[in-house]
Amino acid sequence: MDPLDTLGRPLHDLRISVTDRCNFRCVYCMPKEVFGKDYQFLPRAEILTFEEVERVVRVFVSLGVRKVRLTGGEPLVRRDLERLVEKLARLGDLDLTLTTNGSLLAQKATVLAASGLKRVTVSLDSLDDATFKSMNDVDFPVAKVLAGIEAAQAAGLGPIKINMVTKRGVNEHSIVPMARYFKGTGMTLRFIEFMDVGSTNGWRLDDVVPARDIVAMIDRELPLEPIDRAYRGEVAARYRYKDGGGEIGVISSVTQPFCADCTRARLSADGSLYTCLFATKGHDLRGLVRSGASDEEITGFISDIWRVRTDRYSDLRSSETAGLHKIEMSFIGG
Ligand code: GTP
Ligand code: 5AD
Ligand code: SF4
Ligand code: SF4
Repeated sequence: MDPLDTLGRPLHDLRISVTDRCNFRCVYCMPKEVFGKDYQFLPRAEILTFEEVERVVRVFVSLGVRKVRLTGGEPLVRRDLERLVEKLARLGDLDLTLTTNGSLLAQKATVLAASGLKRVTVSLDSLDDATFKSMNDVDFPVAKVLAGIEAAQAAGLGPIKINMVTKRGVNEHSIVPMARYFKGTGMTLRFIEFMDVGSTNGWRLDDVVPARDIVAMIDRELPLEPIDRAYRGEVAARYRYKDGGGEIGVISSVTQPFCADCTRARLSADGSLYTCLFATKGHDLRGLVRSGASDEEITGFISDIWRVRTDRYSDLRSSETAGLHKIEMSFIGG
């Protein structure tokens, strides 16, 4: 029997971090002051091998996982990632995908597609070089990400999604240009409310552009209408252009959390299992795997963790800050 957690949520998606490293220093994710020259990334021996990842994913699939997403850091900085993709692609009919900053996609798209990757999601926060560079903080130009996106399309890694984290006063002005650029391309642009992930990105509620303001901003120029979520647990609320130019999504983890349908587990690069994006404590799968545990033992371990899961961090945070949201919304006029 596939396990359900204490809120009746199945274990459907697995996000796997394949490395803690990244070649960007996005201000909202790996700010330079924290992830500087002296930052200690994980030593190789502590990172799960591809064989170990494959083994635990096989167990996750037996417990109901149907969607596997490779993430990082930046997943494409992990050498020979296509070897892992090949292994995972053999595990069954999985929605096998990857979230990338796009910087290495031009080189990697063809081999990833040939290895069995189905689609990619590319992060891009602006089309304007000055803004984009101020966000990635490593002087990386927009054109190279666009070239990566093109290569992914040519390799058949679609439907492609584009993630844009929106931060008040930083890239708000890029919202409508981004919408215009991706409208009619078949790619789905998704706007993500800036989140308080970790405690090192200086998050303040004031920095969040609420999803409904984003929708209103676009709707004024490119009329939109809401459509249903594609599947239970989808993080993005969807809208389509009334003229048939495709759709956009908004991921409102801050202003309208979606914990009730959260079916995601996370595996960190060093093999800890987390049941929430905001969980501070993981469960040591690597130790178990390396101690020679059988598949049954690993299955029992994961299943027991899932059955007692109570996580709903964003829901709880949202009720705590409800008053603040009201002030924020009425100030903007939402
Ligand atoms: P698809 O809908 O299949 O494309 O995947 P996805 O939206 O789950 O994956 P993606 O990596 O593109 O996630 C998009 C964004 O949603 C992430 O950048 C996060 O900001 C947010 N997100 C994803 N998972 C969670 C989650 O479990 N909790 C919260 N609060 N936010 C999440
Ligand atoms: N808030 C919102 N989204 C974030 N991401 C990284 N850090 C944050 C944050 N603090 C996004 C990335 C990528 C996705 C996996 O997570 O831009 O698109
Ligand atoms: Fe974080 Fe992704 Fe930016 Fe790297 S590219 S710093 S992983 S958001
Ligand atoms: Fe899921 Fe935790 Fe995000 Fe809520 S805050 S949607 S429980 S990962």
